[in-house]
Amino acid sequence: MHIDGSIAVVTGANRGLGRAFVEALLARGAAKIYAGARNPVTLNELVSAHGDRIVPLQLDVTRDAEVSAAAACATDATLLLNNAGRLVGSGLIATNDIIGLEREMAVNVFGLARMCLAFAPVLAENGGGAIINMLSVSSLVAFPPFGSYAASKAAAMSLTHSMRYELKGQGTRVAGIYAGLIDTDMIANVAGDKTSPADIVSNALDRFAAGDDDIGADDRARNVRAALHRYFTAVEEETWQKADDFLAAHPVGSG
Ligand SMILES: NC(=O)c1ccc[n+]([C@@H]2O[C@H](COP(=O)([O-])OP(=O)(O)OC[C@H]3O[C@@H](n4cnc5c(N)ncnc54)[C@H](OP(=O)(O)O)[C@@H]3O)[C@@H](O)[C@H]2O)c1
Repeated sequence: MHIDGSIAVVTGANRGLGRAFVEALLARGAAKIYAGARNPVTLNELVSAHGDRIVPLQLDVTRDAEVSAAAACATDATLLLNNAGRLVGSGLIATNDIIGLEREMAVNVFGLARMCLAFAPVLAENGGGAIINMLSVSSLVAFPPFGSYAASKAAAMSLTHSMRYELKGQGTRVAGIYAGLIDTDMIANVAGDKTSPADIVSNALDRFAAGDDDIGADDRARNVRAALHRYFTAVEEETWQKADDFLAAHPVGSG
């Protein structure tokens, strides 16, 4: 899977990290980007800067109809980049209600899953391609002040790993990007060492090009992943073997 010549779909492309992904993919030779945004007017600057290499899509990932319409439009896509994300920004108990968790899950888990379901057949049709999911250090270790967000990002990581297994047969590579604090609107009110979106994207796409599927895009993510890595790799290999055995004994559809 090469970025050069790829045709990408990027969700949440209008600002923050998503916009940085669009700029970097184009700089690395992507032929065309389907840029998703809830309000396509917010893509006007990207369209003015890059002309017909940007195809704006009205795309709220929580809406089935918009996701289906995106897949019907972007039939030549070879790369799906699930970037759109939501942080409500409190611990579950601190919030004292379920709504924040529901909102984060709706975008970070169900939205990502909906996009993957819609685009897996498109990618298969176009030779396999790749899915890249924007995860977080919070996928790896729960951060209690953002407890419900961390739960959603952990679920997104789990889906990423399952889909890597499920889509390998159709030749679709599935990668996840992990990062700590990134200097975007999402954490404008959070103090701490933040990495610029451009640096995160540059690191992540370099590692993707080098063949990494679980990508630490900043020092924080690399340090946490290094601590977990040996354990994780061994457990994943063992789990995939168990999955092969399970599916051999329980063919899908057999109940
Ligand atoms: N910032 C960090 O510290 C950090 C760290 C690790 C991982 N991440 C992840 O990086 C990704 C990008 O975040 P960011 O920092 O760029 O955040 P951001 O500045 O808040 O941007 C979020 C993007 O997601 C879009 N979005 C939200 N809900 C959506 C929906 N229902 N459908 C489609 N698009 C939707 C937003 O669109 P609107 O403009 O319409 O709101 C916006 O384009 C997220 O997955 C986030 O979880 C961020």
